[in-house]
Amino acid sequence: MNFEEAREQKVEEIEAVIKEYLPEPKGYQKIIMEAMAYSVTAGGKRLRPMLMQEVYRLFGGAGKEIEPFMAAIEMIHTYSLVHDDLPAMDNDEYRRGRKTTHVVYGEAMGILAGDALLNYAFETAVKAFEIAPKQSAQIGQAIKILAEKAGIYGMIGGQVVDVASCGKGLTQQMLDFIYELKTGALIESAMMIGAVLAGADDKSVRIVEKIASNVGLAFQIQDDILDVTSTVEQLGKPVHSDEKNEKTTYVTLKGLDTAAEDVKRISEEAADLLGSLDKDASYLEYLIRELIHRKK
Ligand code: IPE
Ligand code: IPE
Ligand code: MG
Ligand code: MG
Ligand code: MG
Repeated sequence: MNFEEAREQKVEEIEAVIKEYLPEPKGYQKIIMEAMAYSVTAGGKRLRPMLMQEVYRLFGGAGKEIEPFMAAIEMIHTYSLVHDDLPAMDNDEYRRGRKTTHVVYGEAMGILAGDALLNYAFETAVKAFEIAPKQSAQIGQAIKILAEKAGIYGMIGGQVVDVASCGKGLTQQMLDFIYELKTGALIESAMMIGAVLAGADDKSVRIVEKIASNVGLAFQIQDDILDVTSTVEQLGKPVHSDEKNEKTTYVTLKGLDTAAEDVKRISEEAADLLGSLDKDASYLEYLIRELIHRKK
């Protein structure tokens, strides 16, 4: 099996895990479970659960307590997208090849579906305690990472500065801050949780955090590039969203060519750092290098 086939198979396995942990639509509030599933099951690359699982295996993890965390990180990521697309934020009408949640379910349900996904992510993650009671210390640590990286010192913090700076000029330093938080933090949490649950030592977890931070930065720069160079059919989400919202991006600040060079350099740094862990990380390395050329 080549890497591309392996990737497809992994996506299928991840989607089965995610589906298993979604709430069953029932009760008077049934609409919210439907709205949650609408966005979560729409597809997407499943990059964060994939990175989590790969790092877990890299450090010798072989249990099932990783699974609720894989579902949880995708729920948090999806909530961030549902809210990011709201009229009050980026005001976008397509995501993952479908109309956005607020367009289909209305704005109030869009907000609530995001809230529900965020909360349900933690309801899901704590299920790991029942799966692996002897691993409570690691599971507690993993929940702490998930909470912090999603919050005001993580993803939300980045989104706050992103929104607050629409229509204003930004320095390179501020842009890096935004990217490290709005995109980097969840990728860091995914990879760090994989390491922590597998019992990696603190030093290794720090290295994993640094690798993930590079992956996140490269990933967001490429996202900016695709917003300018791709199509809605290819991306499954609108292009020129950044221009519409008067965002300063890597592309507006440095130009397309330099932005592309930066993606390459930062991704290669991540791959080299991964090599320094001295483990068989061939698939993870493929995944990271593939991000340099990704078209969606
Ligand atoms: C989109 O993330 C938001 C960014 C952080 C750039 P993805 O590009 O991973 O979106 P999906 O999950 O594949 O839809
Ligand atoms: C958003 O960045 C990152 C999130 C935390 C949701 P963008 O606003 O560039 O993401 P897209 O392009 O809408 O996916
Ligand atoms: Mg945004
Ligand atoms: Mg957006
Ligand atoms: Mg974007």
